[in-house]
Amino acid sequence: MKPTPLLWSLFSLLLYAGLAAAPVLAVDETGPQRKALKVCADPHYQPFSSNDLSGYENRIATLIGKALNLPVEYTWFPQRMGFIRNTLRKENPDGSGYLCDLVIGVPKEFELATTTAPYMRSTYALVTAVDGKLASLQQAGELLSLNDAQKAGLKIGVTERSPGALWLARHNLFAQLAPYRAQSGDPEEFPGQPLLNDLEAGKIDAAIVWGPTAAYFVRTGQAKKLRLLPMVSEPGVQFDFAISAAVRFGEDEWQQQIDTILQTNATQIQAILQEYGIPLMTETTAASAQPQTQAETAPEPEKTTVTPYADHIQCDPDGKNCKIDLFLTKGFRAFGQCQVCHGIDGSGSTIAPSLLEKLKELDKDTFYNRVENGYQGQIGVMPPWKDNPNIMNNLDSLYAYLKARSDGVIPAGTIERY
Ligand code: HEC
Repeated sequence: MKPTPLLWSLFSLLLYAGLAAAPVLAVDETGPQRKALKVCADPHYQPFSSNDLSGYENRIATLIGKALNLPVEYTWFPQRMGFIRNTLRKENPDGSGYLCDLVIGVPKEFELATTTAPYMRSTYALVTAVDGKLASLQQAGELLSLNDAQKAGLKIGVTERSPGALWLARHNLFAQLAPYRAQSGDPEEFPGQPLLNDLEAGKIDAAIVWGPTAAYFVRTGQAKKLRLLPMVSEPGVQFDFAISAAVRFGEDEWQQQIDTILQTNATQIQAILQEYGIPLMTETTAASAQPQTQAETAPEPEKTTVTPYADHIQCDPDGKNCKIDLFLTKGFRAFGQCQVCHGIDGSGSTIAPSLLEKLKELDKDTFYNRVENGYQGQIGVMPPWKDNPNIMNNLDSLYAYLKARSDGVIPAGTIERY
């Protein structure tokens, strides 16, 4: 698992969720002569791509098409569950080959396709109103030296499971964190649109979003004049990521062809990215953060014998339609603070492990201890909760709730009370 920027909260999370790495496809390298540069992109994904061709990835595709002396043809598909499976890896039913041969923007470290050398490295950024509460900040890091009075009432919007959420929590700014869903139900919404709306409405004072999105906020924000301050990676929280184009596994020649074009057009690409105001980093200014590896499985723990939720659930005789009491409801509410990292349903994210699995491994005392004092392992840093009465006063409820979820006794989400 590794930290994941907003773009692929809206991207890889969905892809990873839906697609365990499929077997490598066998591809005929010599393939038919190309008549067009076939690109797959999201039609409503500003500022990345748009069906009016105004996204910067559209502009890069045009450059590549010119270099190949081929017209660019698009297949539009929302950047959601199964994007690569439904685009780059999907064959046309009429037998004319794949829907497309190129996707312009994916993380360099990408599980679902072969990537070119990166053509840009951007970073998450803090977007604030020029004349808002954070007007005096010169650097995003100065957030950490605000005093209590300055922090009071301050709200910083972040997408669940994003490095911004992790960063705020690590630096004791959890009270300032306003969590947003990574993906809305509306495929026409651009990434981060709810954050921009709330920023403009003054409901939040800042947002930490992926660089191109931050730039888009600044360019298109109407109600308020906005600005962005780049976030700086630190050990354990990576904000900057390299971006590449993607081709199907096995198409090495095609990949090299695109690589060469990206390199020979590097200056023009740079100019496009700057035109869009995207915060860019060179490899030397970027974090040398290594991809983090998954924690080893904990040794088999002592099992607790008492079922902590037994007296708090009532079901129909067939075990269905379960309801929970106030005790477990409190646990569910407390769990709301864990979702931003451990996922809406507790099943884990790219930055934190599945609590449903953890609850099978950890005994009760270890759970209490880790929640109270925090825990640093190979995945990252779990913040301590000992100063948070909402959690500490409801630890029994929280544990029982998660245990019931882990044992599959109750479903995710709100459950009726009895
Ligand atoms: C800011 C992100 C974040 C939040 C919020 C968070 N956690 Fe975690 N948690 C983590 C990370 C990261 C790990 C993995 C640590 C590792 O193994 O590297 C973790 C691990 C854990 C573990 C496993 C510890 C172990 O021994 O392996 C438990 C249990 C846990 N969290 C419970 C909770 C609970 C309960 C809450 C809500 C009160 C919560 N966490 C909120 C980030 C978070």
